Amino acid sequence: MNKFPDNFLWGAATSAHQVEGNNTLNDWWQAEVNLALKEASGAACDHYTLYAQDFAIAQELGHNCHRFSLEWSRIEPQAGVFDLAEIEHYRQVIRELKNRGLEPVVTLHHFTNPVWFSQFGGWSKFKLRKYFLRFVKRIVPEFAHEVKYWITINEPLVYSSHAFLLGRWPPQQKSLLKTVKVTLNLAGAHIQAYRMIHRIYREKKLNPPQVSIAANLQAFEICQPNWRNKLAVYLRNKLYNFYFLDLLNSKKTLDFIGINYYGRNLVDVENWRLSNLLAQTCGHNHHPLPKNSLGWDIYPQGLYKLLLTVKKYNLPVLITENGICTEDDDLRWDYIRQHLAVILKAYTEGVKIFGYIYWALLDNFEWAEGFSPRFGLVHVDYGSKKRLIKSSAWKLAEVIKGKQGVDGS
Ligand code: FCB
Repeated sequence: MNKFPDNFLWGAATSAHQVEGNNTLNDWWQAEVNLALKEASGAACDHYTLYAQDFAIAQELGHNCHRFSLEWSRIEPQAGVFDLAEIEHYRQVIRELKNRGLEPVVTLHHFTNPVWFSQFGGWSKFKLRKYFLRFVKRIVPEFAHEVKYWITINEPLVYSSHAFLLGRWPPQQKSLLKTVKVTLNLAGAHIQAYRMIHRIYREKKLNPPQVSIAANLQAFEICQPNWRNKLAVYLRNKLYNFYFLDLLNSKKTLDFIGINYYGRNLVDVENWRLSNLLAQTCGHNHHPLPKNSLGWDIYPQGLYKLLLTVKKYNLPVLITENGICTEDDDLRWDYIRQHLAVILKAYTEGVKIFGYIYWALLDNFEWAEGFSPRFGLVHVDYGSKKRLIKSSAWKLAEVIKGKQGVDGS
């Protein structure tokens, strides 16, 4: 039966650019206009207008929290110029959540940057970090009374590698040096933002906030057992999964561990080159697993192992994202149920997990992949913008309400 604690956080996530629509002032929109990407985000889900309706759905589904991001480019459309109407918009968003009993989990940076920031040079310049910190300093006091949970930066390593190494995301560069610089810059930004947010709460005599990042953790598994693959798994765990968390933890700038988990990365490396060691995966579908519609391997056991590994930090854990894109909603429910089952197992074995946030509340704009991958608990008709709650969402609601176990009981 369902033994999740009574005060467990249950919810789903979105990010501004993926759902709001018409985020014309950020670097993604600019790349979309320049036809540098497969699809343009356009009006997306029009969540900017329809947020109240979407939160009503989340409430109906039994959620008690919601993760979303503030769009920096809306709030600060020009360097140093803050748009009060946009600040007011997000105040309404947070108010709507609170009125519906949904605890806000607020992300400050979810992959997008204001155009002016990227034109100045973006995250590859250390000295520009100050602009992000100025934004944090301006916006956090606005919502400090309402918000307890802050995610400073979403998936820093996914951002730095996709934007500066693989050349897939704006600014579409391919430089190892810049990737390293951006990663270090994001780490520095988090550390300073963490301290700043805590200072703001202290000055306002508020209870301390809970601040973290959302770390993308992958289950790196060996395909053929050989030394090269073992070394590759070791390196990938060290660099991609734990480098950032270890660093921030050593600076005491994590109040909890935010984990985004999707699945397995099957490691098979054909030579000793660093680029192969760090990135090559099995191209032969050895050890096949069910996959999502983007071909990612579904592997709940991987989450279980990672949860036991993060026990070393002795910090509370929040699943900040976990989800599947598929047209097959039964598969979605299987995915959710299996992941909840390992979360419950890890919880009963002492991992201090305090919440589960499904990615995503709505079908949405999946970055360079466009609109075809459907991750939502709620179907969005992109023409009419009509929402349709999927049956997996109702099944999750039964678990949340304690009426159904994750083992089918
Ligand atoms: C994560 C991102 C999120 C979404 C999911 C599928 O890497 O944080 O915005 O795109 O993947």
